[in-house]
Formats: sequence, C-alpha cells, structure tokens
Amino acid sequence: ERTVSLAVVPGDGIGPEVIAEALKVLRAATAGAVRLDTTTYPFGAGHYLGTGEVLTDADLASLSRHDAILLGAVGGDPRDPRLAGGIIERGLLLRLRFALDHYVNLRPTRLFPSVPSPLKAPGDVDFVVVREGTEGPYVGNGGTLRRGTPQEIANEVSVNTAFGVERVVRFAFRTAASRRGRLTLVHKTNVLTHAGGLWQRIVDEVAAEHPDVSVDYLHVDAATIFLVTDPARFDTIVTDNLFGDILTDLAAAIGGGIGLAASGNINPDGAFPSMFEPVHGSAPDIAGRNLADPTAAILSTALLLDFLGLPEERDRVNAAVAADLESRGSAARSTTEVGDAIAELAHR
Ligand code: NAD
Ligand code: IPM
Ligand code: MN
Repeated sequence: ERTVSLAVVPGDGIGPEVIAEALKVLRAATAGAVRLDTTTYPFGAGHYLGTGEVLTDADLASLSRHDAILLGAVGGDPRDPRLAGGIIERGLLLRLRFALDHYVNLRPTRLFPSVPSPLKAPGDVDFVVVREGTEGPYVGNGGTLRRGTPQEIANEVSVNTAFGVERVVRFAFRTAASRRGRLTLVHKTNVLTHAGGLWQRIVDEVAAEHPDVSVDYLHVDAATIFLVTDPARFDTIVTDNLFGDILTDLAAAIGGGIGLAASGNINPDGAFPSMFEPVHGSAPDIAGRNLADPTAAILSTALLLDFLGLPEERDRVNAAVAADLESRGSAARSTTEVGDAIAELAHR
C-alpha cells in the first residue's frame, strides 16, 4: 500500500463544504490501494481575521513537505474592508502558486453528454487550457504615483520571461501531443507586442521540434467568440496568466457550469508539491447552506490522482462523476447528497 501525504486547505465559504465531499470520494476511490495521510491547515480569510497571519514562512515550509495540496477556495466577503487589496488572494493563493513554482495551471473542460450546456449546439467539447501560473500581470510588479490626485498613475506590469514562457509552452506541446495534437496560442499580439512577440516566437521555435502538433493562433478577443460559437474546435490552449484566468471561467460555463470546473496548479518538475483546487471561489452568496456543487472539487482530486501516477484511481473518480452526472435529474441536490452518491460509485 502506497502512502500519500496530502495537505488539505479547506479555506473559506463553500471551500470546507466541497472539500469534505472531495475527501470522501478520494478515500473511497483509493481504499485499499493508497494510505491517505491528510493534514488539515486552517489558512484563509477566517484564519487571517482571527490571527493576523495570512501564511507565515513556517506555514509555507510545512505545506512544502507534503506530496500534494488539496485546496477548497479562499477569500472572504469582497465588501469586508479588512480584506481589501486581495490580502488573501495575493498573500495565500498566489503566494503558494509562486513559491511552489506552479508554472502550469491546468484547467480541462469536458462537456459530459448528460450535462446541459448554455450553448445551443456545443458539439463535442473536450479541451484543456494550459494557463501560465507564475508570471504575467499577477506578479505584483506595479506601482501607484500621485495617489489620490487627478494625475494618479496606476501601473501593473506584465512580466514575461523567456524561461517562464518556454517551460509552459513546452508543457503545452507535450499535452497537445498526448491529446488530439492541436495547440492554440491565445494572446493579444496585435497590442501587447513585447509580451506577445515573445510568446509567438517561443511557440514557433518549439513547434519546429513537434511535427506531431499542429499550431494556430487566436487573439484573445476572437478566442472568446469561438469558445462560444465552436468550442469543439479547441484541443489544447496555451495562454498567459490573466487571459487564462478569464478564459477558464468562460470555459467552465461552456462545460456546464462553474460547479464542474477542476484545476491543477502543477510543478511538473516535482521540485515542489502541486496543488489541486476547483476553479471557483468561496461563493459567499451560497456558503454554509449545503448548496454548492462539490463536483469541481471532486474532479480536482482526479487531476491529483493523475499527477501522483494513480491512473486506475483517477479513472474511478472520473467514471463515478460521469455516472452521477448521467443520473442527475433536474431536481436540485445538496452538496452532501452529490458527494455521497459519487463516493459510493467510486468505491473500490
Ligand atoms: P465565485 O466562483 O466564488 O462565485 C461566482 C458565482 O458562482 C457565485 O454565484 C457562486 O455562488 C457560484 N458558484 C461558485 N462555485 C459554485 C459551486 N461549487 N456550486 C454552485 N455555484 C457555485 O467567484 P467570486 O464571487 O468572484 O469570488 C468569491 C471569493 O472567492 C472572492 O474572495 C474571490 O477572490 C475568491 N476566489 C477564490 C478562488 C480560489 O480560492 N481559487 C477562486 C476564485 C475566487
Ligand atoms: C482563480 C482565481 C484566482 C486567480 C484569484 C482568486 C487570485 O480567480 O483561481 O481562477 O485569478 O487566479
Ligand atoms: Mn479565476
């Protein structure tokens, strides 16, 4: 029996609700094959408001010692002035992605046959967004001049390094090669010429090593058109941190809703633990009412199992979700009902 040391960060709002169900399914799918050794950490807005700490260096060191991290969602009430300025988002979530070098943010979209899409004729939707995770406008390279005056200048600089772009682009090519062999670079090279030029050049260079992958390019605005009018044309999309954030909420909607969208923050080199989380946030509007769909968190455990090299267990989770979605009628089900049903289907 293999042991997996898993850090669990349930977080805020619906985070703990969906994580409880994800762990239920993870335990069911791995029973007898994997000894799951979980450690729960309290980090999130609630922890910060109670202790004044977002994530200490010692906390970070503890998290780094696990094989992987499962995270629910973090972030409090956006109107709470004590949390203004993205204290939790930047200080916890982005800090983890940067410190643990999660340069691949992997966000698959698959429209299960039984799931209604908001699109009239979606076709066969099955694509993955490889979102860069450690650079772009997310690095906090900005500043304000003449604050509070009519001449205020607010800069947010997008950082794109050849090293950072090349490694995520290489990962995207490998991903495309293992799928249907089609890679789409999404950027805005007609306006963001410095960053866009670097991305395009690196994609062109790596493409020369990958005759097995066909490559095309879309400006991000046009990509949003085709995601809605013809999502089946996409296989693998590679894009920067901010475009990837926006496109993957759109992708989630196309795939049947934000309650189904999973993600992995991956350090492919294995130097640091990777972190798996639903694409959604803490959903303060429905928190604490057993209403959240835990499927996104559950599907994130399938990505975790895949990353840990447990394909059999991964398949069990995915098949259980597919079967559950198949049997979902129009009646609303609670968070725990969905989790229980999928756990039962996933059990060995
Ligand atoms: P959100 O994803 O939390 O919610 C957007 C909408 O989707 C809401 O109407 C919500 O009820 C719904 N929704 C989300 N998850 C759902 C689920 N599992 N089942 C059913 N409905 C679901 O986005 P937001 O409102 O922009 O952000 C709320 C807070 O979460 C903010 O503090 C934000 O910064 C944070 N956030 C955190 C993460 C993360 O931890 N990875 C991701 C996104 C947002
Ligand atoms: C996501 C979220 C985060 C992001 C926020 C909360 C920092 O929206 O995981 O998609 O922008 O990456
Ligand atoms: Mn987002």
